[in-house]
This record gives sequence, C-alpha cells and structure tokens, in this order.
Amino acid sequence: MSSTSTISSTAFDVYAVRAEFPILSRTVHGDVPLVYLDNAATAQKPQCVIDSISRYYQYSNANVHRGGHALGAEATALYEDARATVASFLGAEPNEIIFTRGTTEGINLIAASWSQMVGDSLRGRNIVISGMEHHANIVPWQMVCERTGAELRVIDVRDDGTLDLNHARTIIDEATAFVSIVHVSNTLGVTNDVREICSLARAVGARSLVDGAQAVVHHATDMRHIGCDFYVFSGHKLYGPTGIGVVFGRADVLATMPPYQGGGAMISTVTFERSTYLDAPMRFEAGTPNMEGAIGLAEAIRWFKRIDPSALREHEASLAKRMHADLSSIDGLRILGPTESHVGIVSFVIDGIHANDLGVLLDEQGVAIRVGHHCTMPLMKRFGVSSTARASTAAYTTSEDLDAFSTALFRAIKLLR
Ligand code: ALA
Repeated sequence: MSSTSTISSTAFDVYAVRAEFPILSRTVHGDVPLVYLDNAATAQKPQCVIDSISRYYQYSNANVHRGGHALGAEATALYEDARATVASFLGAEPNEIIFTRGTTEGINLIAASWSQMVGDSLRGRNIVISGMEHHANIVPWQMVCERTGAELRVIDVRDDGTLDLNHARTIIDEATAFVSIVHVSNTLGVTNDVREICSLARAVGARSLVDGAQAVVHHATDMRHIGCDFYVFSGHKLYGPTGIGVVFGRADVLATMPPYQGGGAMISTVTFERSTYLDAPMRFEAGTPNMEGAIGLAEAIRWFKRIDPSALREHEASLAKRMHADLSSIDGLRILGPTESHVGIVSFVIDGIHANDLGVLLDEQGVAIRVGHHCTMPLMKRFGVSSTARASTAAYTTSEDLDAFSTALFRAIKLLR
C-alpha cells in the first residue's frame, strides 16, 4: 500500500516536501528549532514510510517464505513486492536484488562470497579501490587480500578531490581481479565516473562493485548503464528505514557465487552429509529477513520517485552552490574536494579551530552536522587533516536552513577565535 499524497512533478515545492517529515518541525535543547544538515549520515523519514512500517505490524506481520497461512502469504507478497520495487528503481530484475542490513553488509557479502569462489587464484592478482573509499569499502578487501595473498591497489585522489582516472588506467591491468569503487564520496561529495571505471574493469575481465550509499539519492542509478557487476546501498540514506540495504548483482554472476551465510530460507535440501542451496537471491538471504525494513524501503522509493528528478537535481545544485559560496567567503576556511559539486555534501576545515568544537557550538544553535573522519581515515591523511566538519543537504533542505547554518557558523567561529 503506498501513500497517495503527491509532490508536484512540474515544480519542486520544498515546503510541501518538508511538511511530510514530522521530525523536521521539532526543536532541540529546549526550544531551538532543528536545522538538520547531517543527511549524508542518515536522511529523515517521510510520514508515509513511518506509516508503512506501522501498518505492516498492525495488519500483516508474519514470517515470509514459510507459513502456509493467510498472513504469511500477505507478508511474503509485500516483501517480494518490495524486491520488485527496488529492482525497477535500479533497472534490474527482482532475482538480482538481495536484501542486506545495509551497504557495509552488502560489500562484505560480495567480498566474502566472491573471494571464496575464486579462492587461491587470487595470489598474484590485485584488487583495486580508490583513495576516497569509506572504511566499508576498504576493510573487507584488505581482509580478502590478507587471506588470499592478493595485492590491494588504490587509485589516487587529486588535489581537487577528484579521482585520477589516468592512474586508474595504469593500475587496473591484466592482473586485476576486482574493482570496487565509490559512486559519490561521503566526505567530498564528488561524483566519480563509475561507468568509465567499470568499463576499465570489464576490459581486463575483472568484476566491479559500486558503493552507491551516497549516490542513490542524487543520481539516476541504472545498472545496465553503469555496467557494474554489483551495486550496493542502504535504505536509511534514501529516506527509508535503517537496518535494510540492497545488493544488486548481475544474475549470471550471482548464479556462480556460493552462499554468504548458512541457515534457513537459503537451502533447497539439508542432510547431515551435505546441503544444497536455492538460487539467488534466496541463496544469499539466510534467516528471517528484515521484512518491515524492505517494505519501508519500497515505500521510500515510491515516495522518492514521485519527485521530479530534474527539479530535485536543480534544487540540490542550488543548495550546493549556495553552501560553497557561503563557506568560501569565510577567512581561513578550506573546503576539501571540488569547490563546485551538484551534490550537497561539503566538508571543510577552519584554521585554528577543531571540527569537534565547531560541531558542539553549531549543535547548541540547533544545527546538526557531522564532524570527524567520516570513516575515511586514508582520505583525511591524503588531505593532511584528522577531521573535518561536514554539512549535507537533502530534498527537504530550505534556503532558511542554510541561512541558519551560516549564522550559527559565524557565531561559532567568533567564539572560537
Ligand atoms: N557513512 C555515513 C556517513 O558518511 C554514516 O556519515
């Protein structure tokens, strides 16, 4: 069941969008209005997503793919309908969609299953990632390399925060077995040419994975256009619930891969001698899945798809431009990464001011941003900093939010200098 309220598809009405998010009208620290600019960490949820979860528990809760009763059938239909909604969002087939806990589990699933499949043949081969990866797209591959003897190679990040594609062309070679790359950097807001990088991987017979955690809310995500073997993202950054994520895997590739976890729901037969497994996607979904998460995510996707994408992109680009302009006018402030980006994620440092102190003073004024290393320690090192302040926008961010952010930032800087 989906919500029936509509968002204009001809003009983007940010106030109408905002009105659908109950949390945005609350205050913090007593009566300070909330200005939520931590959307790259997690987005807020529209009422229809909250309602879909509550409705599921009120009317349809039962375990899926098991019981022969009415509720079981209804819950299974809702869960599989959610899979079909995700598939259509990605231009994929339902059997190419695996539900996970989130992006991190998705990458771990692929790294574990794929490396088990290729096994010892990884010695003398290499796995390529980039210098702007989130720890979730570094550590699982390091673990594979430690286990198999493969070499981890890293595409350089240039001073302007973009990826050095010439370097990618050099290090992706005949010995490359896998390329795993972030679509939009959670720290820099930069969008990578993942289509080109996946094509470099394909040209040498390597598999490719795209970490789309920050991208699915900003870019059209057509799997055939990108040309990746795997694409992963989380529900909670796409206005959906936490604890639910997605792996897209090309059907012919998934068909060759072993299970990630063993248990109920993924088997065809079990004896004490041996077990046989179901086909994808069930082979990769052991145990009772996050049913309300999948249903809530499908509702979030339906909600998101009602927004005109070009109007949303225009809105986001104007917010990003405004943030860049406001921040660039501050003495001693350095933005990491491109000073122009259409995605509203901006990381910055200010001479003589620690990002944590800034975060505390902004929070006191109701402004929520993220400070720290953003789970990208190697990228911090690349730019010679240990932490940054990061502001990130969403579809419901208004110019008043950015006014409040600027005012709060100026006050904080005055107090800290
Ligand atoms: N990966 C999330 C972020 O960038 C949590 O904040």
